[in-house]
Amino acid sequence: MMRELKGKTAVVTGAGSGIGRELALACAREGMGVVLADIDDAGMRETGAAIAALGARAESIRCDVSNPLEVEALAARAWERFGAVHLLFNNAGVAVAGPAWTATLEDWKWTLGINLMGVVHGVRSFVPRMLAQGGECHVVNTASVAGLVDIPGSAVYCVSKHGVVALSECLYHDLRVAKASIGVSVLCPAYVNTGIGDSARNRPTELAATNPLAAPYEEAVRHALLHGKITAADVARVTLEGVKSGRFYILTHEKIKGAIEARMRDILEDRTPTDVSRPVPGAGARG
Ligand SMILES: NC(=O)c1ccc[n+]([C@@H]2O[C@H](COP(=O)([O-])OP(=O)(O)OC[C@H]3O[C@@H](n4cnc5c(N)ncnc54)[C@H](O)[C@@H]3O)[C@@H](O)[C@H]2O)c1
Repeated sequence: MMRELKGKTAVVTGAGSGIGRELALACAREGMGVVLADIDDAGMRETGAAIAALGARAESIRCDVSNPLEVEALAARAWERFGAVHLLFNNAGVAVAGPAWTATLEDWKWTLGINLMGVVHGVRSFVPRMLAQGGECHVVNTASVAGLVDIPGSAVYCVSKHGVVALSECLYHDLRVAKASIGVSVLCPAYVNTGIGDSARNRPTELAATNPLAAPYEEAVRHALLHGKITAADVARVTLEGVKSGRFYILTHEKIKGAIEARMRDILEDRTPTDVSRPVPGAGARG
């Protein structure tokens, strides 16, 4: 377990905004050196400036996590600059919405490429180096409650996040079998007011085609994000406490446990899936 973070190095993907920025700042406050990775240079600069103001060391590396070569270069550079990496946050992510049957192939490719394959690339590039380095290390993968429950209008996002939960659980098992001193956590927040509702700001033009029935669902998500009771800074604080105490499932919103239980009961009691979401005004049009 990594009880002491001071003097160690963290790498945070998606560090230019929201939860990633707060994770990077929380690590800096612990006295860690931090490598910031994102495709948003301006966002990374802001995070870097806030870390510098704390008197901590940060380095920004532009990295598209959907590209395995860029993630491999990120890992190589992090070890080159800091000599070691102890804590990896596979956090970068985007969100799309709308019914499953009108989700475009571009929605699937873009979202799975970042949310799921981004984490796959992080595991493939960082874990072997951590194993070779030896000593206590920890990997935190940002999933979501959408990796534990399923709601209308969220097929693409939920598939990506269920994948992150499954990958994290298997990674945990594999590292125990290998008797490795690398811990794993999967971070599963509910709504937090960040830039996620405006994910398309970073969407590549060749993958621009979006679900034609997304609008009411996107509106409902934006509304829920605005009313999120827990801030990105709260999420970061709870996450670092979770790393230090070796928690695997880091759930930041206590209330969500009822929805998780409902899903488990649906499975065990042979029921159809319970809809735990609020109704979406204007949804239900056929496409
Ligand atoms: N905000 C929420 O309500 C919420 C809830 C559950 C899970 N999450 C997850 O938290 C993580 C962080 O999201 P957030 O809410 O802070 O959103 P955000 O939009 O504020 O931050 C996401 C960051 O990821 C970066 N990013 C996007 N595509 C990238 C790519 N290809 N390569 C590298 N970086 C890329 C963005 O530039 C941005 O800086 C995501 O995985 C998201 O799915 C968010």
